[in-house]
Amino acid sequence: MESEETMSQAYSPAQRALHWAIAAAVVVLVPVGLAMTARGNAGVWDGVTNALYSWHKAIGFTVLLAMAARIVLRLRLGVPAYPQGFPPRFASFARWFHRLLYALLVAVPLLGWAGVTAFPALVTVGGMHLPPMPFVPVDQALSKKLFAVHGTLALALAALALVHVAGQVAHVLLWRHPVVARMWPRG
Ligand code: HEM
Repeated sequence: MESEETMSQAYSPAQRALHWAIAAAVVVLVPVGLAMTARGNAGVWDGVTNALYSWHKAIGFTVLLAMAARIVLRLRLGVPAYPQGFPPRFASFARWFHRLLYALLVAVPLLGWAGVTAFPALVTVGGMHLPPMPFVPVDQALSKKLFAVHGTLALALAALALVHVAGQVAHVLLWRHPVVARMWPRG
């Protein structure tokens, strides 16, 4: 048993709420991110494009804050132990895979925030301004590079999220370990 695993059988309500809120945000952010950049690249700078950018930045920054809360909760509360009979090779793969997802869920919004700080384009929904990321200079060439890495890692995150969902389906239907119940909204 790894030290972060506890005797509890399900994630705490706060951990479950954050998991589903962040998952829903990623489902929205990826298509919105692709749509707004496609519109921008096509020179369509109307109210819709601006609204997509504003909401993308606001929701994306919220994901960063939610991930900070999620990491604090994970460090304080740990994760539920895998059920008896859960194959150790699945458990060690899941630990590795979940850490990769966490890393991307932090890196992708950080790179987006750094990019809008360097551009600078910090205005979001309702004219609200995001704080500039400390130590990031205003530099358009830098913002271009940051956005390129942001976009690539966001697509990697989307791909890994799909693998994560497929893995949960396989755990239920194929291998008959419904570990997803530990994260289910009702526990
Ligand atoms: C988990 C959080 C996030 C996800 C999954 C995500 C996803 C994406 C995706 C898929 C794109 C399109 C990339 C492309 O077409 O090449 C994009 C672009 C963009 N994102 Fe995010 N994003 C997130 C967070 C953020 C945050 C926090 C900000 C800023 C505060 C941000 C600002 C931007 C901007 C400005 C672009 C357009 C870049 C450009 O014009 O080249 N994103 N994002």
